[in-house]
Amino acid sequence: PDPAALRQRLLQWYDRHARRLPWRALPEEVADPYHVWLSEIMLQQTTVVAAAPYFEAFLARWPRVEELAAAPLDEVLTAWAGLGYYARARNLHKCAQSLVAEHGGRFPQEEAALQALPGIGAYTAAAIAAIAFDRPAAPVDGNWERVIARLFAIETPLPPAKAEIREAAATLVSPQRPGDFAQAMMDLGAILCLPGRPKCLLCPLAEDCAAYALNREKELPARTPK
Ligand code: ADE
Ligand code: SF4
Repeated sequence: PDPAALRQRLLQWYDRHARRLPWRALPEEVADPYHVWLSEIMLQQTTVVAAAPYFEAFLARWPRVEELAAAPLDEVLTAWAGLGYYARARNLHKCAQSLVAEHGGRFPQEEAALQALPGIGAYTAAAIAAIAFDRPAAPVDGNWERVIARLFAIETPLPPAKAEIREAAATLVSPQRPGDFAQAMMDLGAILCLPGRPKCLLCPLAEDCAAYALNREKELPARTPK
């Protein structure tokens, strides 16, 4: 695909069809790194629908990272109840404390510095860098993987295709709007480029899509048989 044309089509679609999620800044608003971080930690193993009410409750109770850092751990764990994977809540609290103690309560913008914080791995660091700071990072999640495998008609099965998908993804990232681009890929994967039954007739990237041209969209991405 031609990256410039694809970006423009995807971002134009996103401007009309983006999901309104509680952690997203409104157009023309500046993203709040605390909101982006909190949502990304919650979304690590939780669906958007399940995470949303917890996100709202955490923000209502601890509107800023300083307040979350000062909260007793057991209150954070209680508020987390139902989301599961409690290590995430412990790391969330630890991360808030080290942000306050070591970074003056501000999030670093570099992926490497973000990854040094508790609970933040490569994916989450890329998501925060892109969405909160508009750095040209590629938070490649399952939605991205499916979309990229199809756009490039990558026949290598997952998981071995992951490295190839990552490289292809990096060539597409919008230098102008990396945060919107990242979330647009997630939304395309969640709304149109669905597993099994993609809605290619509605897709803004149909003309960029190698799998669609080859009528391979339902077969890709291939999976290594268990
Ligand atoms: N999954 C992980 N991060 C997300 C985001 N920012 N928007 C929608 N789904 C997500
Ligand atoms: Fe996915 Fe179909 Fe769009 Fe290709 S054309 S990106 S397979 S929805």
